[in-house]
Amino acid sequence: MNFVTDLDVKGKLVFLRVDFNVPLDDKGQIRDDNRIRASLPTINWLLEHGARVVIASHMGRPKGKFEPSMSLKPAAKRLAELIPNKVLMAPDVVGDEVERLKKGLAGGEALLLENVRFYKEEEKNDPAFARRLAEGIDIFVNDAFGSSHRAHASVVGIADFVPVKAAGYLMKKEVDYLKKAVHTPVKPYVAILGGAKVSDKIEIIESLLGKADHILIGGAMAYTFLKAQGLGVGKSLVEDDQIEVALSILDKARTQNVSFHLPQDHLLAKAPQAGAETKIVESLPFPDDMMGVDIGPKTVAAYAAVIAMARTIFWNGPMGIFEIDEFAKGTIGLAKAVAASGAVSIVGGGDSAAAVKKAGVRDKISHISTGGGASLEYVAYETLPGITALEK
Ligand code: 3PG
Repeated sequence: MNFVTDLDVKGKLVFLRVDFNVPLDDKGQIRDDNRIRASLPTINWLLEHGARVVIASHMGRPKGKFEPSMSLKPAAKRLAELIPNKVLMAPDVVGDEVERLKKGLAGGEALLLENVRFYKEEEKNDPAFARRLAEGIDIFVNDAFGSSHRAHASVVGIADFVPVKAAGYLMKKEVDYLKKAVHTPVKPYVAILGGAKVSDKIEIIESLLGKADHILIGGAMAYTFLKAQGLGVGKSLVEDDQIEVALSILDKARTQNVSFHLPQDHLLAKAPQAGAETKIVESLPFPDDMMGVDIGPKTVAAYAAVIAMARTIFWNGPMGIFEIDEFAKGTIGLAKAVAASGAVSIVGGGDSAAAVKKAGVRDKISHISTGGGASLEYVAYETLPGITALEK
C-alpha cells in the first residue's frame, strides 16, 4: 500500500476521502471535531506540497436524499478555522458546478464536496457514480479509516478509476496500532467488549477467541449471555434470537481455553432514566420489574485486576448506559483501570472514546481509534474493504 508521502502531488488533483462524520448538536454545531483534527496531518501535507485537494466525506445516514441537517457545511467552516489555506464548500457532490470548482482549484487550495451519501449510488458502490467522483482526479488518497469498513463508491469503487492511490497519515496510524493488537499482541491480551448487542459483535468475539487471553463482557450484551445460561434478567435488554449464538460462544471459549468473563454483580434500575430507583445485586434472577444498566462494583474490581496484568488491551463498547451519570461508574472505572495498566491500549468506538474522555484519561490511552465499526471489523478480519481497494 502506497503512503501519501511517497507521491509527487504538486499541481495534481487529489480526491481525499476523510471521515468527517462528526456529532452535531440540535443547532447544527459540531460537538466534537476530533475526526476533523485527526485528518489534518494528511490535509496539511497535501496542501503544503501544492496539491489541489478535493475532500469527500459522508455525514450521518441521509439514505440517498439531500438532507440539509446532514450537510457538510459545518465541517467546511471548522476546517477553514483550523488551516490557513483556502477552503471552498461545493454545493453538490458531482455535476457541472462541482466540475467547474474542481478545475478552478489552485495548488494549496481545498474544496469540500457535499455529503456523498446524498446520492444513493454511494452506498451501492455504483461504478458509474464512482467514475463521476473520479472525473479529472489524478490521485486517490484514503484517510477515512472510520469509513473503510464500508464498500462504498467514495471509499472502494473510486479506486478503480484513479491511476494512483495511497493511504493518508490517519489511515496508516490506525492500521499500525490495530495491527499490533491483531497480528502480534504482546500477551496477556485482554479484550473488553461492551455495548447493547451480541449480534454486532459476533465476528469480533469469534476472532478474539483464537487470540485473546481474556475477554471481559459488559453492557446489555452481557444479559443475553446470562439469559443463555438460563438465568432470569428481569426487564434487561436481551436479544432472544442470539441465545444460541451466545451459548456457542460460551462453549468455544471453554474449549479454546479463553477466560470469558461475565459480570458478577449488576446495577439495576426500574427504568433506563436518570433518577430511576436503583439497586446493586449479585445474585440472579433480577426482579421482574428491574433492568441491568451497568456492571456493579465487584465486577469493576475483578475486571480491573485482569486489566492490571494485561500487556495489550483492545476495548470497544461501554459497560452500561454511561451517558447517564448514575449508570457510568462501571465504564468510568474500567477506563481508569485501562489508563493505569501500562499496557498498549487501543480504544475504538464513539461511546468508548467518549467514556475515556469523561473519565479524564484520554492522554493515558495508547490509541483512540476514530473508527468504531471499522476498528472492530479490522480486528476481526485483519483488513477492511477500503484498505484492500488501495492495495489493488
Ligand atoms: C462511523 O461513524 O462509525 C463512520 O463514520 C461510519 O458511519 P456509518 O456507520 O453510518 O457507515
